[in-house]
Amino acid sequence: MPNVTLSTLQSLKLKGEKITMLTCYDATFAQASCQAGVEVLLVGDSLGMVLQGNDSTLPVTNDEIAYHTACVKRGNEGAFIIADLPFMADATIEQTLTNSAQLMRAGAHMVKVEGAAWLAESIRLLAERGVPVCAHMGLTPQSVNILGGYKVQGRGEAQARQMRADAIALEQAGACMILLECVPSELAAEITQAVKIPVIGIGAGSGTDGQVLVLHDMLGLSLTGRVPKFVKNFMAGQDSIQSALAAYVSEVKAATFPGAEHGFSA
Ligand code: KIV
Repeated sequence: MPNVTLSTLQSLKLKGEKITMLTCYDATFAQASCQAGVEVLLVGDSLGMVLQGNDSTLPVTNDEIAYHTACVKRGNEGAFIIADLPFMADATIEQTLTNSAQLMRAGAHMVKVEGAAWLAESIRLLAERGVPVCAHMGLTPQSVNILGGYKVQGRGEAQARQMRADAIALEQAGACMILLECVPSELAAEITQAVKIPVIGIGAGSGTDGQVLVLHDMLGLSLTGRVPKFVKNFMAGQDSIQSALAAYVSEVKAATFPGAEHGFSA
């Protein structure tokens, strides 16, 4: 796969070709995902749950994300690597800059931060210093204790209006990508149309520019047995992990995944 850059992702959006993203935490899966054609590898703080066995992402540290980013970089064969700023790694502007620098030095091409319009200043400062930022909006798992659980966000006209305005504000602040998690499909499609930067969805319907899933979820692996509605097990009917990864890429590209059954209503 030729190296995927921000310009590649931007041109996929312009062409209307879906972007494929999966979480990834090690070199072997980085290589396998690249060979299946996955364009973006996300070193997500979901590693706190699927690798470490925690019941939330909150215990994950910046050093741990940096370690896994370096592992992914070693196996990477051309994908664009995004690394998560974990819980409280962006508590102050100074920490945001220092922790983002650590992740970029470890091999990330972009950092991801969870929040809404209040992220604008950090995003602006990072972008000015050469760090592309993905703004993770909607269900932001680091705020699970404020949200009162892993719940759909953006339901109802007031919340939807706010999320649309926040997305536009973050694009104006310099965000290079938006990730929408557990947002009604119609709202996610509207936000995707309203901004020029790529919008990736998870539990956000088929109207976004691309899709992401947690690797373990799409391989049918679950520690708790609780599988979110937006997950599809791509191992079903496949005889190898490599073919499950390829099936994910081909279904996202063909826009057959996600189906209506994987999305949420307003
Ligand atoms: O940490 C993560 O894996 C994520 C995905 C759920 C999008 O943020």
